[in-house]
Amino acid sequence: MDKMELLRIWCCLVIIFVLSSALAEYLVRVDQFNFEVEDRELIVSQSTSIEQDGNRSYLSGHLIVGKPINEISMLASMDISRPSLPRVRLFATKMDLCSFFNNDYKSKFVQQFYNRYVNFINVRPRCPLQANVNYSLQRSYIDERILPELLPECSYFLKLEFRNKTKHLAQVLISGHITPVASKVPTPKFRVKF
Ligand SMILES: *[C@@H]1O[C@H](CO)[C@@H](O)[C@H](O)[C@H]1NC(C)=O
Ligand SMILES: *[C@@H]1O[C@H](CO)[C@@H](O)[C@H](O)[C@H]1NC(C)=O
Ligand SMILES: *[C@@H]1O[C@H](CO)[C@@H](O)[C@H](O)[C@H]1NC(C)=O
Repeated sequence: MDKMELLRIWCCLVIIFVLSSALAEYLVRVDQFNFEVEDRELIVSQSTSIEQDGNRSYLSGHLIVGKPINEISMLASMDISRPSLPRVRLFATKMDLCSFFNNDYKSKFVQQFYNRYVNFINVRPRCPLQANVNYSLQRSYIDERILPELLPECSYFLKLEFRNKTKHLAQVLISGHITPVASKVPTPKFRVKF
């Protein structure tokens, strides 16, 4: 390999890196963040709030359970919609929350969820969840990296349903607006001339 060839490879790598990070950029605004409790004996206290600050929406809240929980599953789904077009489901995934708290899931997608939410909680949650501990989330935000590339401007609806084997316990609804910020970028082969 001569120097020119190395330089060429290096340039391509840099450009691919820059493009792949540019393509994933979105502004994600949250307009709604609700925690709906089904089982009031289990979930004794909770709150949610949104703070709009610059281009980010920060989510805070707290949760206190009345008895220890050692088995709970979460169904996460996300839909997007555009004016006068039907809703499209981006993903629906079910996970065991205790394994999630232990960070046992190896999928990159789930780990991004973990890093974004679990790290923003004051007490690291572990199963069984403790009764009468105030688990609070401070200024967390939607991680743009969980979104696929090349989404159009759209509204989104994220739903997290919590249940055990027999009962629906609660659900979290988050919705708002996604705006891509990187304008259309040409692919490297059109952009680089040697
Ligand atoms: C918000 O994002 C837009 C588009 O990327 C940018 O031009 C603007 O400077 C940002 N504003 C703040 C307060 O970060
Ligand atoms: C739980 O913690 C949050 C955040 O620190 C606080 O706002 C809330 O009042 C607390 N709730 C209770 C019942 O202690
Ligand atoms: C599910 O939760 C409900 C309400 O807290 C409880 O009565 C029931 O025993 C739980 N079921 C299992 C299998 O843990």
